[in-house]
Amino acid sequence: MKFFADTAEIDDIKELAATGLLDGVTTNPSLIAKSGRDFMEVTKEICGITDGPVSAEVVALDHATMMKEAEVLRKIADNVCIKVPLTIDGLKTCNALTADGTMVNVTLCFSANQALLAAKAGATFISPFVGRHDDNGSNGMDLIRDIRHIYDNYAFDTEILVASVRHATHVLESALIGADVMTAPPAVIKGLFKHILTDKGIEGFLADWEKTGQSIL
Ligand code: G3P
Repeated sequence: MKFFADTAEIDDIKELAATGLLDGVTTNPSLIAKSGRDFMEVTKEICGITDGPVSAEVVALDHATMMKEAEVLRKIADNVCIKVPLTIDGLKTCNALTADGTMVNVTLCFSANQALLAAKAGATFISPFVGRHDDNGSNGMDLIRDIRHIYDNYAFDTEILVASVRHATHVLESALIGADVMTAPPAVIKGLFKHILTDKGIEGFLADWEKTGQSIL
């Protein structure tokens, strides 16, 4: 499963990229606003840190303007992936852009039928929002299971990009279901490295090593 960082914070992206485990980045207008950075500038900077897809979202609601915005965004770098909302105009835009070889991430997906439409429109990625689904009293992971089933039934190439990931269990379940990608805030990704028994184990080994009076270097 590929790991994308859901953030526009440069320091966090650099730190994760240095682990060698970062496969791409997703941003959205809220994350850009939170970063306080210029959209074009920060997106270019992110594209220089990772070779993987970097999602940059259009803000227009109509197809014609979405296409114009996409035209500007895709000039930023070769690894820009245009993010469009799951609407009729968004899917029209997805269809046109992917036919042209541009990567497209269809976002704000909350039903398996919406995911089916996105795949038929040629989406590179579909982003079902599991956390927001949970917030709304549904089970976000059931949605991922349904999408996986449908995509496998018809051998769709569209990658399932689990979004709105809030905790480690979302990551684990995504991997068990066979999602292609998950995107999570840096804190969630960093939390995956941690285990209390790993920390306790290191503590014990170091205490015993100290008693030997030896050094490796
Ligand atoms: O990838 C989508 C994500 O940014 C939304 O997350 O936590 O705002 O629902 P959240």
